[in-house]
Amino acid sequence: MSRSPLLARAYDLCVEKARRNIRRLADAPKSGAFAADGDYFGFHEGFFEISNWTSSFFTGMALLAYRSTGDTEFLAQCNRLKAPYREKVVRHGMDTMHDLGFLYTLYSVAAYKQTGDREHRETALLAAAELAKRFVPEGKYLRAWGRMDENRTDYAGLAIIDSLMNLPLLCWAAAESGDFRLREIADRHASTVLEYFVRPDDSVCHSFRFDPRTGAPVGADNYCGRTVESCWARGTSWAIYGFALMHGYTREARYREAALRVARKFVSLLDEELVPVWDFSLPEGEPRLRDSSAAAIAACGLDELQKYLPGETGLTAAADALTERLCSSDYLDERLECPGLLKHAQIGDGVGKARVAYSSWGDYFFMEALARRLHGDPRFW
Ligand code: GLY
Repeated sequence: MSRSPLLARAYDLCVEKARRNIRRLADAPKSGAFAADGDYFGFHEGFFEISNWTSSFFTGMALLAYRSTGDTEFLAQCNRLKAPYREKVVRHGMDTMHDLGFLYTLYSVAAYKQTGDREHRETALLAAAELAKRFVPEGKYLRAWGRMDENRTDYAGLAIIDSLMNLPLLCWAAAESGDFRLREIADRHASTVLEYFVRPDDSVCHSFRFDPRTGAPVGADNYCGRTVESCWARGTSWAIYGFALMHGYTREARYREAALRVARKFVSLLDEELVPVWDFSLPEGEPRLRDSSAAAIAACGLDELQKYLPGETGLTAAADALTERLCSSDYLDERLECPGLLKHAQIGDGVGKARVAYSSWGDYFFMEALARRLHGDPRFW
C-alpha cells in the first residue's frame, strides 16, 4: 500500500469534497454531470431525467470515504437517497438507459457490499432487471440511450463503448440472485463489443450500429470522439477498465487480452504531458485539449488489469504515473469551496467537438485510483 504524502493529501481533499457534495446531493438529488467553474450543483439536469448517468459519482465518492474513514455521516447522507433511487427504476423504468450500471453500481451495489443493507440489494436487483430489458437478442447488444419503446430515433440499433462499464451490475446481480440470464447478457454484449469495436490496430470506435430489426451489423459510428475513425481517449479508457472487469467476472482470456491490447495502445499514445489529449487522432493545428477523466479511468483500469497479469508491471507503473500527474495543481483544484476536483476533463460540444470542464465522473475515478493505492481495491464494480 502506498504511503505517498502526495497521494494521501489528494485523497484527504477528495474526502472533504465528498462530504460537502453528498450532503448537497441528498438535499436536492440531481445529475451534477459537469461544470466549467467546478460547481456541479448548477448543472441543469434532474435526477429522473433519462440522460442522467452521473449522480452516483457523488455517492461513489461518499462510499469510498465511508470505507476509508468509517465516518457514518457519509452513509447516512447516502441513505437519504434510497427513495429516489428506488423510484427511478420502479416508477420511471422506461425513462432509464444503458447507464443504469454506473448509477446503481456506485450507489446500491457499493452500499450493499459495505453494509449488507437488503434495501440496497433489492434496488440494485431491480436496476439490473431494468438494464437487461435493453438487450437486443438479434444483434446481441445492449441498446444505447433513448427509451426502448422509441424506435424512430438515431439510437435504435446503436451500442456504445462506455456500455462495458455497465456490465458489472448484471454480473453482480446474476451471482447475487442466481439469475444467470443476466450474466449471459453481459457476456454476449461484451463479446459483441470485442468483435465490432476493437480495431486491428487495437484502438476502439465509440459506437457501432446494427440493423434494429434484424441485428445485422451496419458499421462503426461516433457521437463522442472526433470522427468515426478516430481514437477517443475516454472511450479507450472505458474499454481497458470494462474488458478487465469482464475478465474478472468471466475469467475469459479473450477479455483480458482485449484489455491488454487496448491498454498498450493507450499507453503508447501518451505524450510527455501524460494526461491524454481528448482524442488521439487530433490533426495538426487543432487545440490539444486534454481529458483528465480519461487519465483517471485508465489508471483504475490498468490497476484492475494488472491483477490478472502480475508480470505486466508496466501497467501499474503507467497507472501510478497517471495518478501522480493528476495530483499536480495543473489538474487538481484544492479549493474546498469548489465542488469539483479535477480540471480539464473533456466534454462534448456537438459531435466531433470538445471543450473542457470539471467532470463528476473524472473526480470519482480519480478518488478510486487514489483509494486503490492507499487502501486497496474497494471492489465496488
Ligand atoms: N458515458 C459518457 C462519457 O464518457 O462521456
